[in-house]
Amino acid sequence: MFGHVPLWPESASTTSGWVDALYIFLLLVSATMTGLIFTMVAVFALRFRRRPGQRAEQIEGSTTLELTWSVIPFAVMMVFFVWGAVIYFREHTPPQNAAEIYTVAKQWMWKFEHTEGQREINELHVPIGRDVKMIMTSQDVIHSFYVPAFRIKQDVLPGRYTTIWFHATKPGTYHLFCAEYCGTQHSGMIGSVVVMEPRDYEAWMSGSGSQPLAVTGQTLFAQLGCGTCHRADTQGRGPDLAGVFGKPVMLEDGRTVMVDENYVRESIREPAAKIVKGFKPVMPTFQGQVSDEQLNALVAYVKMLGQPQSGQPANPQGMAAATPQP
Ligand code: CUA
Repeated sequence: MFGHVPLWPESASTTSGWVDALYIFLLLVSATMTGLIFTMVAVFALRFRRRPGQRAEQIEGSTTLELTWSVIPFAVMMVFFVWGAVIYFREHTPPQNAAEIYTVAKQWMWKFEHTEGQREINELHVPIGRDVKMIMTSQDVIHSFYVPAFRIKQDVLPGRYTTIWFHATKPGTYHLFCAEYCGTQHSGMIGSVVVMEPRDYEAWMSGSGSQPLAVTGQTLFAQLGCGTCHRADTQGRGPDLAGVFGKPVMLEDGRTVMVDENYVRESIREPAAKIVKGFKPVMPTFQGQVSDEQLNALVAYVKMLGQPQSGQPANPQGMAAATPQP
């Protein structure tokens, strides 16, 4: 719509339509108010200018007038607030079944890994017409994932995951920026998001012989010996991980938490932080032993274990690693 306006960024996602509509509304309200104020200044200056023989008269307030100039702006502000809040929540609530991209930011690059296993640096390929959820963390300082053409921006923090999602609507190559000052080469921490037609995307995907992230996680799960305690027969010293992802779990201290990416991540790095009811804090920490990429793989694996048994082909070797080790 505004492609030919040089100051208006390209619009290539469903979110950008929502954000642009609100932004145009803000511009219109601001322009109207500015026009109104300048007109009133001019009109009043002329109409009530100093004339010989006339004295200014003091007016002692008017309830009607005061209510009017309080209630109308309040109503307009509430429209900003509610509209903005609706967009915020939509932007931060990824739809079910979105494709997932694990992202690790570091000084000064973006590392992406698709659940199918493809890895990319500073370049992200996504198909058109698909919901894509970014699951992001940082290896060092705070960065910010910003794609103006999608109208999305999300801080990327060390030690935890933050998420954002988008649904690209137009093929093309779009700028990706780091939008949080993160050191001397912050301005060089840029990249591009390549939005492709589904057919081209399939071709691109099949080009690499990488294994799914969850399978990498499964191997790691076995290598680290996680399966000796996290056993399917519930005889282990840790909770069975099958079917737990995405569901609430009761903790030893009576709280209930949702088993999401952040909970799994925290439980690997700080196992004692949130102990599941009925278990003891005997798990050693894996902080410093597993990299952010490996954590992502483990999270993807636990997530796969969380899917129903009748699962999709995305579950290549089923629950093998969760069954008791010989
Ligand atoms: Cu990363 Cu600025």
